[in-house]
Amino acid sequence: MARLKVAVLISGRGSNLQVLLDACAQPGFPAKIVRVLSNQPDAYGLERAKRAGVATEVVEHRQFADREAFDAALDAAIRQSGAELVCLAGFMRLLTPGFAEAWDNRLVNIHPSLLPSFKGLHTHRRALEAGVKLHGCTVHFVTPELDDGPIIVQAAVPVLAEDDEDSLASRVLAAEHRIYPLALKLIGEGRVRVDGRVVRITDGADGMASLLNPSG
Ligand code: GRF
Repeated sequence: MARLKVAVLISGRGSNLQVLLDACAQPGFPAKIVRVLSNQPDAYGLERAKRAGVATEVVEHRQFADREAFDAALDAAIRQSGAELVCLAGFMRLLTPGFAEAWDNRLVNIHPSLLPSFKGLHTHRRALEAGVKLHGCTVHFVTPELDDGPIIVQAAVPVLAEDDEDSLASRVLAAEHRIYPLALKLIGEGRVRVDGRVVRITDGADGMASLLNPSG
């Protein structure tokens, strides 16, 4: 079966990109990364892509007059790569509604909280302040509303009494590194169907395909 062609958009260190690259290097994995794009020329993730032999491209937001022009350039670069799916992996720019609509159901993001809790930035600090006992991460489809699209996979992690922002962030990051490749695998296998706000995972022998609790 043809592998799903994927573009990954990054802005920084690219640890999620790395686990996606590693997954795609496994025999039989149903997706392959055809291009890594960054809005930051010095993003470390670009080195990771080069090491894996994946083509990279920098589209610097600063060189465009406004968001629409930047997003149009991104869109053109992605289409030129032949990608069928776009994965945001630590991409720190808000995309315009037009971009999200153009890639409807073909644009996914990883967010470091159990959505719909803690949309936006500083999720670990806010989780600690709120006193939640479970925190986690979410892979979801992107819609024009921030961090609001249909949820594909989630993982929960415990919040421990001694946690600070860093320790909680690293526990969540380890979970991110498990769920992003899982979500990409499910999409690549054609098992992800969007039904209104709800994602249904089809053909699974196991009903837990979209839920991971790493401490369980
Ligand atoms: C991750 O925590 C991701 O959830 C968030 O940005 C961070 C990116 O980390 N969207 P990395 O660049 O993948 O290491």
